[in-house]
Amino acid sequence: EQARIGVTGLAVMGRNLARNFARHGHAVALHNRTAARTRELVEQFGDEGTFIPTETAEDFVAALERPRKLVVMVKAGAPTDAVIEEFAPLLEPGDMIIDGGNAHFLDTRRREADLRRRGLLFVGTGVSGGEEGALNGPSIMPGGSAEAYASLGPLLEDIAATVDGTPCCTHVGADGAGHFVKMVHNGIEYADMQLIAESYDLLRHAVGLEPAEIAEVFRTWNTGRLESYLIEITAEILDHADPETGQPFVDVVLDRAEQKGTGRWTVQSALDLGVPVAGIAEAVFARSVSGHTGLRAAAAGLPGPRPNSADASAPGLADAIEKALYASKIVAYAQGFHQIEAGAAEYGWEVDAGAMATIWRGGCIIRARFLDRIRAAYAADPHLPTLLTDEHFAQALGDAQDAWRSVVAAAARAGIPAPGFSSALAYYDALRAGRLPAALTQAQRDFFGAHTYRRTDRDGSYHTLWGGDRSEVTA
Ligand code: 6PG
Repeated sequence: EQARIGVTGLAVMGRNLARNFARHGHAVALHNRTAARTRELVEQFGDEGTFIPTETAEDFVAALERPRKLVVMVKAGAPTDAVIEEFAPLLEPGDMIIDGGNAHFLDTRRREADLRRRGLLFVGTGVSGGEEGALNGPSIMPGGSAEAYASLGPLLEDIAATVDGTPCCTHVGADGAGHFVKMVHNGIEYADMQLIAESYDLLRHAVGLEPAEIAEVFRTWNTGRLESYLIEITAEILDHADPETGQPFVDVVLDRAEQKGTGRWTVQSALDLGVPVAGIAEAVFARSVSGHTGLRAAAAGLPGPRPNSADASAPGLADAIEKALYASKIVAYAQGFHQIEAGAAEYGWEVDAGAMATIWRGGCIIRARFLDRIRAAYAADPHLPTLLTDEHFAQALGDAQDAWRSVVAAAARAGIPAPGFSSALAYYDALRAGRLPAALTQAQRDFFGAHTYRRTDRDGSYHTLWGGDRSEVTA
C-alpha cells in the first residue's frame, strides 16, 4: 500500500497531525531525522490507522502515491529550507510540499515561487490549535495555488475541526496568504490574551477578588457572549493551586511573558502596511515590558496613586469589566481584519474575510462564539469597512462605552496598567471623531520641514512661509 500523504518532522505537532490523518483512514508515510522517533510513534499508536514508517528520504518519497504530498513539520526558518532542499530534488513535477509550521509569509512566498519554477507545488499552511488541535481537529489555513488546494483540500478538511458541520479549513489565497492569515490570527491571540490578563488584574486588584473567585467570574462570562477557549482555560488556570505550596498557581508563575515571534511579525507587517493594529502592538509590548526586569526593578519605587484615591471597587465594576473586555475584543478583531484586507490588497490575494471568521470558529486558540458574529457581519455586508460599524457590533460598542470608559478611568486611578483596554478605547474614539488633532501634527510638519498640507475648504497642496511673512503659497 502507498501513502496518501507523508509527514516529516515528528515532534509533537507533526506526530499528532500524522495520527489525525491515520485516524481518518488515510495511510500516512512517516519520516524523521532520527528514526527512533518514527519507530516510537508506530509502537505507541500503530493501531490507530495505517502508518508507513521510513528511514531515508528516498524511502519516504517512494512510499507516497503520486502526485506526492509531503507535509513538513519542522522549526520555521533555516530548518524548513534545509528539509525542502533535502526532498525537492527527489520529487517529480506536480508533487507537493506542504509547510505546516509557523513560517513567515514572506518566506512562504519565496519558497512557493522557487518550487513553482521547479515544477513543484508548495502550500504554506497555518495550523492552529496546539498539540490537542493537531490531533483532534485544528483550524487549518492553507495558502498556495487553487490547483494545489483542489487535491490537498479534501484531506485537510477531513482532519480539521468542524463547527455546525462546516470544516475549519478553506483555501485562504495564493502563495503566502495562509501563513499571513495565521500570523494575524496569532496577533489577535496576543491581543485577546492581554485583554483577559488586564481583566484579571482589575478584578483582583481593583475589585479585590481572589483568584478562585475570579475563576468563577470567568466561568460565568464563558456562558455568554465572551464564550471562548481562552476564557475557559483562564478559569481553569485561576482555579488551580500549586501542588507544592498550595498557593494560587498564578502567584507562583514568574510574571514574564515570552513570545516566539508571530505577534511581533504581525506588528512589523502592520507597520509596513500602514494598518493601525494598536491593540496587538500593545499586547506585544506588554509582554516585552514584563521581561525587562532590570527596568522594572529600577522603577519599582516610583510613586503610585494614594490609597484612597482609588475608588475603583465601585459597585458594578466587575460587570463593567465584562463590557470593556467585549468592546476591546471587537476593536482587536476589527484591527486584525483590517490588516488581512490590507495584506490581501498588497500581495494580490483574494481573501474572504467572512471565511476566515468561519474557519476560526473551531479548532484554533482564538475559537469563540464571537467569531460566528463576525462571520454573520461579513455575510450581511462583504464590503464592511470595519467590524465596528456592523449593526450588532456598533450596538454592542454603544452599549458598552460608558462602562468601558469607567473601567479605563478606574484602572488609571488605581494605578493598574490597562494598555489593551485604553488603546482599544482610543481607537474607537479616534475613528468616531469628526476632527482629529492630526491637523496640528500636519501643520507642525509644514512649519519645521515645509512638508505641506491640504486644506479643508479647497483642493491642492499648500505651504505657509513660516519663517517669512506667513503668507500661504501653493506647493
Ligand atoms: C496556535 C498557536 C501556536 C503557538 C503560538 C504561541 O495557533 O496554535 O498560536 O501557533 O502556541 O506560536 O506563540 P508565542 O510563543 O509567540 O506566544
